[in-house]
Amino acid sequence: MSFQNDLTRAQAEVQEELDRLLAAFGEDPVAEAMRYATRGGKRLRAFLALESAALFNVPRARALRVAAAIECVHAYSLIHDDLPCMDDDDLRRGQPTVHRKWDEATAVLAGDALQTLAFEIVADPATHPDGAVRAELVLTLAQAAGGGGMVLGQALDIAAETAEAALTLEQISELQRLKTGRLLEWPCRAGALLAGADPAPLLEYAAKLGLAFQIADDLLDVEGDSEKAGKALRKDAEAGKATFVSLLGVEPARAEADKLIEQAKMSLLIYSPKGATLADTARYVVTRDR
Ligand code: IPE
Ligand code: IPE
Ligand code: MG
Ligand code: MG
Ligand code: MG
Repeated sequence: MSFQNDLTRAQAEVQEELDRLLAAFGEDPVAEAMRYATRGGKRLRAFLALESAALFNVPRARALRVAAAIECVHAYSLIHDDLPCMDDDDLRRGQPTVHRKWDEATAVLAGDALQTLAFEIVADPATHPDGAVRAELVLTLAQAAGGGGMVLGQALDIAAETAEAALTLEQISELQRLKTGRLLEWPCRAGALLAGADPAPLLEYAAKLGLAFQIADDLLDVEGDSEKAGKALRKDAEAGKATFVSLLGVEPARAEADKLIEQAKMSLLIYSPKGATLADTARYVVTRDR
């Protein structure tokens, strides 16, 4: 099957899993907003979980729970990222952002609830029968998402908007590793943890992929089609965002992303030929138009 077919199939499976997990919530606005914010999207993080787990023949049902959990954390991060006090965006995945469709309180609470739901999903025995494996998944997800991970990256991103001096390449790399890289790394790690396998090669892959992914997002902001992307573009420069593109310019940033993707693919050689889909995923990350 082609990469696009694999991705499309995974997107449908992940949506089904999320629908099932979110059906437990009622009809109140926060519950509705949780379901709303977890629809759509490329499901890249979920796909990384599924494909990493597939390297080690992890049962699909377990991998799907981990995939759903990371999409909940991701959706929470987007709801909060779009708030007026953060990036102040009105459109996400082609729809009004949660605070525009409801209000800011609902957006904050739906984000909070999606975050805790992710931990509930991972901690449930249905994710893995061994409590030690579940504890490791919970621990590493908390580390990836929290104040030393994605949240710290978001804080650095916001601080950079009003910083006196432009960030260095090293500082931008660190910011992007945290705000974006850590939530792309965790599903790769989780795939290995579910199997009791060594995650090291996948972590190397994810480190390169994460940086390339954010460079591609920043390039899309400059060159993309907002209709296709489903979100407002051409905002980063005016907001004073610190990106590879703002520092290096478009072509050098693209070259850097391409280089990172080649490096990411090298880390997969140990899984050959099973790692082919993850290699295709790396290419997709820098060629996508949304
Ligand atoms: C957007 O992530 C936020 C960033 C980290 C740049 P995605 O581009 O993966 O968003 P969806 O899930 O496909 O909507
Ligand atoms: C968002 O980065 C990263 C997280 C939500 C953690 P961006 O602010 O660049 O993402 P978009 O462009 O709004 O999707
Ligand atoms: Mg942002
Ligand atoms: Mg944003
Ligand atoms: Mg962006």
